[in-house]
Amino acid sequence: MTREELKSTALAMRQRSYSPYSRFRVGAALECSDGTVFTGCNIENAAFGPTLCAERTAVFKAISEGRRDFVRIAVAGDSEPPCVPCGVCRQVLREFAPDIEIICLGSDGSELTMTLNDLLPHSFGPEFLK
Ligand code: THU
Repeated sequence: MTREELKSTALAMRQRSYSPYSRFRVGAALECSDGTVFTGCNIENAAFGPTLCAERTAVFKAISEGRRDFVRIAVAGDSEPPCVPCGVCRQVLREFAPDIEIICLGSDGSELTMTLNDLLPHSFGPEFLK
């Protein structure tokens, strides 16, 4: 998938958001090394705590389908400047893809590109437990 297609997929997934409480819609498109893409949206809950971010929805779908080789993720939020992955999602991405590229898209079409290492430097990961 091209970079533009990955961005469009994240933007389209924002429409699937279930966010009646925050009214903040987020879509995500997670790309594997062979170009396979797993999608996600944020899914809220009346009890608030069970809410799942768009990024983790996509990661957990991919893991449960046997994929862990993530290279790029596009995230489309409902804000300007673009929303960046929360701390929990950063740590979940860190587990599988410490070098992943992150494309954050804003509601007015702005774009920020960064790496996970930019967002979570000096991070803890699986190699510490060996
Ligand atoms: N949210 C995401 O899905 N991803 C982010 O990167 C930031 C926050 C969701 C969680 C919640 O449903 C709503 O946005 C407001 O925090």
